[in-house]
Amino acid sequence: MEKDEKIKEQPEKIVKSADEKSVGNGDELVIEIKNLKKGFGSKEILKNINLTLKRGENLVVLGRSGSGKSVTIKCIVGLLTQDEGECKVFGDEVSEMDSVQLKELRTKVGFLFQSGALYDSMSVRDNLEFPLIRVLKQHDQAELDQGVNDVLESVGLADAIDKMPSDLSGGMRKRIGLARTLIVKPEIMLYDEPTTGLDPITSREISELILQMQKKYKTSSIIITHDMECAQITADRILVLQDGEYVAEGTYQELEKSESEFVRSFFK
Ligand SMILES: Nc1ncnc2c1ncn2[C@@H]1O[C@H](COP(=O)(O)OP(=O)(O)O)[C@@H](O)[C@H]1O
Ligand SMILES: [Mg+2]
Repeated sequence: MEKDEKIKEQPEKIVKSADEKSVGNGDELVIEIKNLKKGFGSKEILKNINLTLKRGENLVVLGRSGSGKSVTIKCIVGLLTQDEGECKVFGDEVSEMDSVQLKELRTKVGFLFQSGALYDSMSVRDNLEFPLIRVLKQHDQAELDQGVNDVLESVGLADAIDKMPSDLSGGMRKRIGLARTLIVKPEIMLYDEPTTGLDPITSREISELILQMQKKYKTSSIIITHDMECAQITADRILVLQDGEYVAEGTYQELEKSESEFVRSFFK
């Protein structure tokens, strides 16, 4: 596959450390995964993963259920460690990070869980203040209020500030989950099936929100999805995972016309 070769031929040493990053440099790689392998027991899941995420881009990953998409993003945040290969974020190898470095990494890399993961016993306001207090160590009430109000405005739910999670619809919970991740202004966002379980209209709203957040917060994102409308709305570039490797790379329009039947099967 010629696209595969393109991935492997990425020049090295483009990655700069987070300190010397140049905002707006379209060639800067914030994530660089090379020849990554990961299995469980005798089961090989990821056989040879090569992935780069450029600063500011939305990269969509398509793959069948159980093909290792979530495993890939768990390697990126250090929740799993690869068996072989490289996994670098902002130029640093994640598998070599100690607990302090991992904590720091996770302030720069936001992770939207499939469930949304809100604290059910806490109001929306408290759910959103939590990361500001715990991660950013903010304690000034005016500063907290500002942060909470700004992010709620961004996700279109300013009115929900005093609600409890149980008062919210699935789509609203997803928005608040997104707000809770975005509130600490991560440089990278990892979305794991952000629209799964939502109705088509809410799915579209969440996809459009992901696109708006890219523009507003200038985040670089990986979006794992089965939802082709989500891919169409959000993707600058798409990778297709098959049997533990990426077999195709391109824009939505390019892949829709792929010669590979497997690739085209996602677009039906
Ligand atoms: N911690 C784990 N221990 C053992 N097997 C795992 C673990 N995490 C994932 N797997 C297996 O790896 C495969 C890929 O999982 P996953 O990345 O979650 O797939 P998906 O592409 O649907 O996100 C599955 O067969 C899953 O059972
Ligand atoms: Mg998954």
